[in-house]
Amino acid sequence: MLQILGSRRLSGKARGGRILYVFNRRATQPGRMDRLQNVAVISGRTLTTHKGNVMKKNVIIICLVFFVLCIFSSLCFAEALKPVKLPPPQTDGGKPLMQALNDRASSREFSSEKLPMQVLSDLLWAACGINRADTGKRTAPSARNWQEIDVYIAAEEALYLYDAKQHQLLPVLKEDIRTDTGKQGFVKTAPINLIYVADFSKISAEKMEDKIFYSAADTGFISQNVYLYCASFGLATVVRGYVDKPALEKIMGLRPDQKVILSQTIGYPKK
Ligand SMILES: Cc1cc2nc3c(=O)[nH]c(=O)nc-3n(C[C@H](O)[C@H](O)[C@H](O)COP(=O)(O)O)c2cc1C
Repeated sequence: MLQILGSRRLSGKARGGRILYVFNRRATQPGRMDRLQNVAVISGRTLTTHKGNVMKKNVIIICLVFFVLCIFSSLCFAEALKPVKLPPPQTDGGKPLMQALNDRASSREFSSEKLPMQVLSDLLWAACGINRADTGKRTAPSARNWQEIDVYIAAEEALYLYDAKQHQLLPVLKEDIRTDTGKQGFVKTAPINLIYVADFSKISAEKMEDKIFYSAADTGFISQNVYLYCASFGLATVVRGYVDKPALEKIMGLRPDQKVILSQTIGYPKK
């Protein structure tokens, strides 16, 4: 409800007009009128309110604040979504192959301690990194060298995609989706869960059953490399099919021709 509180004659161009000071009673406490809501100018027979101008000014201020906030948040987001360069893999060390084979096992008890960057680098290189720079071929074989399995890393700070060519992590989601990578409790607290995703667009086989078969086989080689790396360096791991795959694919924002095949948890053994 508006109430006219006072008025003042105008001079200059708008001479003859009158400014009315108007307050909005609804916006205030009962019995108090302390907020200038509107200014109206009566000139001759016409009454032009200045509410439009006041509102325009408010809209401009809101837009400016919004614009500044957008720039600020996009800068923060861009900063957070920069690729993470991994240190070069250390291709020596660890237990000899026969000892690693002897120690290879599934484990379901993990410490929540984070993996150092060097360990992550070595682990991903062992999984399916490039071991022949001239051809771009990998530590794991793939049917017709399709290299159709992408390795995603679900960590506390984000979901990343392993970019084998640049040996770096490409941020995909700035979210902790570890819980969504499997239906077993330890997935939530183990430092990383790998998600093996088949990109069917890279497979030239015609039949869907062939795409599924080759994707499953190629994932197996990567997973076993991870098992052997973990056995060699004293890490705990388990590969997992007990995953709500459609839900995870949705959360990861995968295309319809990208399918989650398996997941694999890695961490230090629980003490
Ligand atoms: C394709 C595949 C899917 C698996 N899925 C799960 C799983 O969802 N959860 C789990 O705890 N272990 C899973 N495992 C691990 C097996 O249970 C484990 O390899 C098996 O019990 C033999 O134990 P080992 O790996 O220590 O030799 C899976 C293994 C494979 C090969």
